[in-house]
Amino acid sequence: MAREMLGIDIGGSGIKGAPVDLSDGSFTRDRFRIATPHPARPKPVAKVLARIVEHFGWDGPVGVTYPGVVIDGVAMSAANVSRRWLGVDAASLLADVTGREITLLNDADAAGVAELRFGAGRDRRGTVVLLTLGTGIGSALFTDGVLVPNTEFGHLQIDGKDAEVRASAKARTEDNLGWSTWAKRLSAYLAHLEALISPSLIIVGGGVSRKSEHFLPRITGVRAEIVPAQLVNNAGIVGAAMAAAAAHPAQTAEPAPYAVRAAGATGGPQRERGTAEAARRNAR
Ligand code: BGC
Repeated sequence: MAREMLGIDIGGSGIKGAPVDLSDGSFTRDRFRIATPHPARPKPVAKVLARIVEHFGWDGPVGVTYPGVVIDGVAMSAANVSRRWLGVDAASLLADVTGREITLLNDADAAGVAELRFGAGRDRRGTVVLLTLGTGIGSALFTDGVLVPNTEFGHLQIDGKDAEVRASAKARTEDNLGWSTWAKRLSAYLAHLEALISPSLIIVGGGVSRKSEHFLPRITGVRAEIVPAQLVNNAGIVGAAMAAAAAHPAQTAEPAPYAVRAAGATGGPQRERGTAEAARRNAR
């Protein structure tokens, strides 16, 4: 039984993919990266995905991250990407262009899924939140290891502004902030988030988490434990691969702990359940 799955992470500067060993989250081949086309519209991005699939000679399903809300494969928000994605059935489009079944999920959700299985959130129960601090702020919320998909805690309002405008890694560099000043903004944001969801663990991800010693010790006013992510830039790829595996349990024997949709997929527990429910409704 295949224990590998291809994961692809669509980011603002690069689109990266690698086949992932599902037993330990490692890459079975070197990561392959292509610069994100600008503007990052659906069609050009889909063509890059096709090149990555071709590079690995991959003929199975593929897991893909998208930096916005994804419901049933449809892109429902586009904060840091081309607005052309809005309302597009992105999973189907990517499936058409690559010729592969595509499971699409939010990038932070993918990173969270990977960190909870293989990284900083391994075996952690209760309310856990992962935040990716990058161009924007992405969030993934878990309760006893189960993902609540599509949370958008990066868009909470702090002092009348989107949190990601104040506290993302981009805000730190663009506003020329020292670590202490940025840590103050981050503290205010984390304290606000804590007041709303009372997590027991906050995992801080994104590239800047590699420099966590500069800002995590300076966070104040937060009760929850705060730790840096462990998989950092690979988390999206690993989580995407895990989501595709969960959508194709027959091929990988992977459990499906959260709702995912594969465009063109035949079966998968989520889909079967949906079909059974619809049949019951129709029978009433
Ligand atoms: C988007 C999120 C995304 C995050 C990181 C935010 O602007 O709204 O959906 O996860 O950026 O890419």
